[in-house]
Amino acid sequence: MTAFELIRAFAHDTAISIVITDPMIEPPGPTILYANAAFSRLVGRELDDIVGHSPRFMQGRETRRETLDTFHRALAAGERFHGYLANYRADGTNYRAEIDCRPLRAADGRIENFVSFEREVIRRIGRPTGSAAGRYEPASVSNDALTGALHALSIFEHA
Ligand SMILES: Cc1cc2nc3c(=O)[nH]c(=O)nc-3n(C[C@H](O)[C@H](O)[C@H](O)COP(=O)(O)O)c2cc1C
Repeated sequence: MTAFELIRAFAHDTAISIVITDPMIEPPGPTILYANAAFSRLVGRELDDIVGHSPRFMQGRETRRETLDTFHRALAAGERFHGYLANYRADGTNYRAEIDCRPLRAADGRIENFVSFEREVIRRIGRPTGSAAGRYEPASVSNDALTGALHALSIFEHA
């Protein structure tokens, strides 16, 4: 079983939004190969309208170019990107997405796919703390259990 197949099996019923792409990071890639039902709810689109497209369809006026450049550099280097982006639903409303995106490698080290765990977060009221993570809290779900399980299975090389 490949990591893709394993994650897809895990992803089906979970409340965390999960999306898997091919490894082509330059436009028109990356192309979404799989998204779960929670992702469809998060972005307000049917799966038919998600699979086969690039995740860029969620971006809009308030999506920071600087953060996207950091995201792009991480993907090009085969590293994890963990950050926060303003994204848009199909109906035009926006939300703040926490994105935890990592490469999935074949046994020979080649990147076969990228997988991203996503959830909506809301800004904490009051003075921001030092890190970006301190400024946000999950709107609903936690992904700790799932990423913990995938770590235990050595799907991810590092935190
Ligand atoms: C698995 C995966 C999931 C992604 N999910 C999102 C997302 O939810 N929202 C978003 O704005 N960009 C997302 N992206 C990032 C874009 O696809 C793209 O890589 C980003 O815009 C930076 O590249 P660019 O500078 O070529 O646009 C995702 C990328 C990957 C590989």
